Amino acid sequence: MKFRPWHGVALVVWLAACGAIFFQNYRVTEGRKTFERLTCPSCHLAGGAPSLEHVGNKYDRATIKEFITNPDAVYARKGKRPLNAGYTTMPRPKATEHEIEMLSYFLAAQQ
Ligand code: HEC
Repeated sequence: MKFRPWHGVALVVWLAACGAIFFQNYRVTEGRKTFERLTCPSCHLAGGAPSLEHVGNKYDRATIKEFITNPDAVYARKGKRPLNAGYTTMPRPKATEHEIEMLSYFLAAQQ
C-alpha cells in the first residue's frame, strides 16, 4: 500500500482520539481513588448523603466542581439549602485543586 498524505492525517487523528480516551480514563480512575481516599463514601455510600450513582445526569461538571469547592455558592444560585430534601448540607472537603479536578471527572462520568 502506498503512503498517501491523508494517511498521515488519519494517523494523527487516530492518535489524538486514543490519547483523549486514555486521558479521560486516567482522570476517572484517579477521581475514583480520590473519592475513596477523601472518605466521601463514609456519607455517600452509607446513607447519610444522597447516592451519587447518577450525579453526572443531574449536574454538569462545572456545577459538581463548584459544589465540592464552594457548596454555598451553589446553594445561593439554586436558592435551595440543602439541595436534597431530608439531608443536611454537604461539608466543604479538604481537597487540593488537582483532587477536585479528578473528582469532578469521576462524578460527571456517573451517568
Ligand atoms: C459528612 C458527610 C459527607 C461527606 C464526608 C461528603 N459528603 Fe457530599 N454530601 C453530603 C450531604 C449531606 C449532601 C446533600 C447536600 C444537599 O442536598 O444540599 C451531599 C451532596 C453531595 C453532592 C451533590 C449530590 C446531589 O445529588 O445533589 C456531591 C456531588 C457530593 N456531595 C460530593 C462529595 C464528595 C466528592 C465528597 C468527598 C470529597 C463528599 N461529597 C463527602 C454529605 C457528605
